[in-house]
Amino acid sequence: MKRISAIRAIEYLDDNESIGIGTGTTVEFFIEELSRIRNKFVNKKFYASSQRTMQILLNLGLDVREPDRILDVYIDGADSVDRNLNMIKGGGGALTREKILAFNSKKRIIIVDETKVRKNIFSFPMPVEIIPFSSDLIKLNLINMKLKFNLRKFNENPFVTDNGNFILDVFLENEENPFDIAHKIKLLPGVVEIGLFENLADIIIIGKENFEVEEIKKVP
Ligand code: A5P
Repeated sequence: MKRISAIRAIEYLDDNESIGIGTGTTVEFFIEELSRIRNKFVNKKFYASSQRTMQILLNLGLDVREPDRILDVYIDGADSVDRNLNMIKGGGGALTREKILAFNSKKRIIIVDETKVRKNIFSFPMPVEIIPFSSDLIKLNLINMKLKFNLRKFNENPFVTDNGNFILDVFLENEENPFDIAHKIKLLPGVVEIGLFENLADIIIIGKENFEVEEIKKVP
């Protein structure tokens, strides 16, 4: 399912010079497809949302740059999406760079399998990237807001992002106004970024179990 949405996304690359690439297993299927037609892309400029994606693109011999312009197109996966093109991202911990690239792109294409399409995107816990110095204080702030959360771990230690920060996964599924709460969390000092992506998808490509592909497009 991930692969068929990735294959469809290749069609959107034509005539684009600067291409942002997200992070995750779906994106890696996309890069695999890209590598088959690599010659078409050697003169294009690529922008990666994580060290991992950057390394994969460099291994293909592609021109990978630091963000220096508004991108023509950005391709990424997501952890949950709804039919209003809202998303939760950051399951892989790359949310901040992903949001920077998505915000600064002319066209955002999201590739997912059908299990990611939800009525309530917050059924996936919202990742929040935080500066380690603020960690205990942000936890206290969240407790005061009566929210449940986990500090993301990797091998018993806090998971560290490419930016040297920690991630809190915050459970908002049963909240009455999860969007409002997410916006409040974004304003807490020490929060770098939240995994709620609103208005940052132009097309969501959904790969289905029956091999069909559905596209949800933003109404202009
Ligand atoms: C990375 O931080 C995330 O935002 C990914 O885009 C998301 O986790 C999707 O990953 P998969 O394609 O592996 O499901």
